[in-house]
Amino acid sequence: MKVNGVTYAPPSDPRRLLSDHLRHDLALTGTHVGCEHGVCGCCTVLLDGAPVRSCLLLAVQAEGHDVTTVEGLAAPSAPLHPVQQAFHECHGLQCGFCTPGFVMSVVGLLRQHPEPTPEQVEEGIAGNLCRCTGYASIRRAVRRAAELSQRPGARGARSG
Ligand code: FES
Ligand code: FES
Repeated sequence: MKVNGVTYAPPSDPRRLLSDHLRHDLALTGTHVGCEHGVCGCCTVLLDGAPVRSCLLLAVQAEGHDVTTVEGLAAPSAPLHPVQQAFHECHGLQCGFCTPGFVMSVVGLLRQHPEPTPEQVEEGIAGNLCRCTGYASIRRAVRRAAELSQRPGARGARSG
């Protein structure tokens, strides 16, 4: 599979979850793990550009596909991705544990709906739980991310 544009060999254990493979084998710990059974959305990554819960996929199921994690959105020395920038500007996070999952869901949402309606925003983040923010600032961040993404020169994910 390709992760953030780099090709990796599959894990030796065919039962390895994609979330564990990313975190423990590839050291991509930006993907967080909360519930480990598909409820919280913390582990969301993009699979061929669409948001998926990496705790519900086996790593081998991603073979032949492009995976993008939060690390793939912007290099450490590069400006933030528009969605990251929007969460920063709008205080769309407190403890930050849920944030990579929200960010990846919103990247996927804006790819599908560059100017999402309020209903599409709700639907786009419905699978992500946050225990801290109360969601108002996250909704503001999604709207701001849509604005920033429309600007000339705004870029999407580097890969995936
Ligand atoms: S850790 Fe995957 S949905 Fe909660
Ligand atoms: S910012 Fe703490 S869980 Fe969302």
